[in-house]
This record gives sequence, C-alpha cells and structure tokens, in this order.
Amino acid sequence: MLNKVKGKLISFEGIDGSGKSTQIKLLKEFFNESKRKAIFTREPGGTVEAELIRRLILSKNKKVNFENKTEILLLLAARYEHFKKLIEPEILKGKTIICDRFIDSTLAYQCRGNIELEKFYFKTSKSLIKNFEPNLTILLDIPPSRALHRINKRKTTTNKYDEKDEYFFLNVRKTYTSLAKNNLRIKKFNALEKKSILADKIKKSILALID
Ligand SMILES: Nc1ncnc2c1ncn2[C@@H]1O[C@H](COP(=O)(O)OP(=O)(O)OP(=O)(O)O)[C@@H](O)[C@H]1O
Ligand SMILES: [Mg+2]
Repeated sequence: MLNKVKGKLISFEGIDGSGKSTQIKLLKEFFNESKRKAIFTREPGGTVEAELIRRLILSKNKKVNFENKTEILLLLAARYEHFKKLIEPEILKGKTIICDRFIDSTLAYQCRGNIELEKFYFKTSKSLIKNFEPNLTILLDIPPSRALHRINKRKTTTNKYDEKDEYFFLNVRKTYTSLAKNNLRIKKFNALEKKSILADKIKKSILALID
C-alpha cells in the first residue's frame, strides 16, 4: 500500500568502499543546486533511537560477537525505528528519501545466501514493515580487492566491516548480484567508473523515477 503513494524511497547498496557515500554526497549537491528536495538518511540509523542501535551493531570491541540472528534482530530493531519515525510518515507526505543502505544490506551482509537466516529475516521483517521495499535501488558493483584497496587509503569512519577480508566481501557481492538479477528495482552500476561519470548515470536513473 505504502508503495503506491507518491513518496519515493531510493536506496544505495554495495560493499564497503564501493562509493555509496561519495555518490550520495554528489547527489545531495545536485539536489541542492537544482532546488530539488530530498531527505538524506542512512541505515542502520537515521533516527536518534536507531543511531543508538547502530553503535551496538558496529562496535569494534573485539569481545563483542553477536549471534547471527541477534545481529539481524538488532538491524531490524533499528529499521523499525527508522521506518516508523521517518520513512513511513515522510513517504506518506509525498517526500523523496535517499537512504545509504537498506533491506538488501541485511540480506547481503547478515544472511549471505544462508537459507535458514534468510527465512528468519523475511519472517521477522514482514511482521514489522510488511512487504515495504525501495522504489529504486542503486547497486554499486566492484571487485572486493579494489574496494579493499580504496578502504585502506581512506582513513576516516572505520567500523568492524572495514576489518573483514576479501572472502567475506566476495560472498556479500555474490548475494548482491543475485538480488539484482531477481529484482527489477535494483539497478547495477560499475563502481570502477570515474566518480563524475557514475554520478551522471545515477542521476538519470533517479530523475526518471522522481521527475
Ligand atoms: N568512482 C570512484 N573512483 C575512485 N575512487 C572512488 C570512487 N568512488 C569512491 N572512491 C573512493 O573510495 C573510498 C570509499 O568510498 P566511500 O566512502 O564513498 O564508499 P562507501 O561505499 O560509502 O563505503 P562504506 O560502506 O564503508 O561506507 C573513498 O576514499 C572515495 O573517495
Ligand atoms: Mg559510506
């Protein structure tokens, strides 16, 4: 039902270092310059409550190692807060929301093709946000070796996923690729392209949806 109203949710997905934050920043500049309006947000997070939960999930404390299902529950708790307090009301008002990561990240990072975890995730998610999904998902696709090289050069905002190895990200990328094959809302872009060229392509795809 929510998917039929005028408001739109556009999510950005891709492994760490694929360039999501970079492209979102460029998009924000374009929106400002062209006097278009959108709400820019992120997951996990986006509200005070969800940002608190984000800190638990992304903790770099070596002693913290959540069970897979616990991590999914924490992500869904953060998503529910974000959905109820920000996404749902703003979409109902007809707003455009741009979100750094959303439902596909949980599938790609936490489930990674594990059927039992997927079942658990789908069932729990459905009980919270029904079948709500983004109208458009920009997937930035990049070989993990190249993304890791970028992350190592980047000094800021490290989290526990920055410490995962290439094998972990190969699985995450594989899940993203298969999600893109099965969902028309997901548009895959080659994240190795120049920032400005990529930004133009992403812009076209977004304007086709909202203008
Ligand atoms: N198209 C590009 N070509 C070359 N370098 C890029 C490109 N896009 C981003 N980068 C660089 O790669 C690094 C990672 O980019 P960014 O932080 O945007 O990735 P991210 O997907 O948001 O990662 P994370 O999931 O960890 O937040 C940054 O240093 C950025 O400047
Ligand atoms: Mg980022």
